Amino acid sequence: MLQKIETLSAAIAAFTAQSSSDVEQFRLAYLSKKGELNNLFAEFKNVPNEQKKEIGARINILKQEAQAKFDELTAAFSSAENQTLDIDLSLPGNPLQLGSRHPLSIIKKQIIDIFSRIGFTVAEGQEIEDDWHVFSALNFPEEHPARDMQDTFFIEKNPDILLRTHTSSVQVRVMEKTQPPIRAVFPGRVFRNEAISARAHCIFHQVEGLYIDKDVSFADLKQTLLFFAKEMFGADTQIRLRPSYFPFTEPSAEMDISCSLCGGKGCGVCKHSGWVEILGCGMVDPNVLTNCGIDSKVYSGFAFGMGVERIAMLKYQIKDIRLFFENDLRFIKQFQAAN
Ligand code: PHE
Repeated sequence: MLQKIETLSAAIAAFTAQSSSDVEQFRLAYLSKKGELNNLFAEFKNVPNEQKKEIGARINILKQEAQAKFDELTAAFSSAENQTLDIDLSLPGNPLQLGSRHPLSIIKKQIIDIFSRIGFTVAEGQEIEDDWHVFSALNFPEEHPARDMQDTFFIEKNPDILLRTHTSSVQVRVMEKTQPPIRAVFPGRVFRNEAISARAHCIFHQVEGLYIDKDVSFADLKQTLLFFAKEMFGADTQIRLRPSYFPFTEPSAEMDISCSLCGGKGCGVCKHSGWVEILGCGMVDPNVLTNCGIDSKVYSGFAFGMGVERIAMLKYQIKDIRLFFENDLRFIKQFQAAN
C-alpha cells in the first residue's frame, strides 16, 4: 500500500496541465468520488491495525498534496486563460452610435422656445377626439361645407369619434378647463384623409397658439406673429396678412413671410412671388368662447396654427414632405439641434 501511495504522490507531483480541461481530468482522477484518493480510503479498512497509524498519516499527506496541486493548477489556468482571451484592453471601445434629433422635433422645439420667451405655456391634448372638440365647439355648423376643408378619418360614427384634423381641439380643451388669461401653444400630430404627395401627407404636425385676455386685439396678434417670424427666419423677415376664412376665427387671415431663400426677390420656393404662406390665424370667434364657457363680452383673444413640416421644409429647404416619415437615417442624421 505504501508503495502505491508513493507512486500516486510522484504522479501528482509530476502532473502538468495544458488547459483547464486537463485540470478537470486531474480532479476526476484523484479528488472525485471515484478518484484514487477515495479508493485508498476504501482500501484503508483492510490495512492491519499496527500499520494503520503510519499509512493513515501518509494518505492524509497525499490528500493535501493532491488538493494543493489542484488549487495551484486551477489558479494558474483561470488567470492564464484570461490572458490568452483575445482582448486588447488598450484598444478604444466600439463607438456607440449616437442618435440625433429628428428635424421635426428640432423645429417644434424652436417654435415652442420662441413663444415661451413671450409667456406662452405648452399644453397637449389627445389624438383621438370627438366631434365636439374638433368641430362643433369650434363653430363648424353641422353639415356645413367648412367641415370638408379638413378630410377626416373617422373611427366611429354617431356619435363621431375621429382622429383630430387640427390641434385647435386642444384650444377647446384648455378653454373649457381654464379661465383667462390663457396664453399657450399646443404642439401635436394631426391626421387628414389626403392623398400623399411631395407637398401633402395624411399625418403631419401642427403648433397652435392661443391668447385670451381682456382687450386682446388684432394688433397683438400681428405683433406676436411678427416676433415669431423674425426669431424663426431671421431679423430681416417681413410678414403679410391676407384675409381668409376659418369657422373659429373672425376676422381670419393667412400669414405669409418674405421668402427666406431669396429675401423677397423671387425664386422657385416662393414661386417668384417673394412671399410664402406659413400659418392661419385670426381673432377667436365669440361663439367659440361662449361654447367653452368664457364670457365673450369680457374677454377676447387670438389664435394661430402652423404646420411644423412646412416650417421645417422652408428652414432646411426640403422639397418632399414624405422624407420626414421614411426614417431614412441618411436623411434624418443631417440635422443638428442648436441646443
Ligand atoms: N386649425 C387651422 C388649420 O388647421 C389653423 C388655424 C388655427 C387657423 C388657429 C386659425 C387659428 O388649418
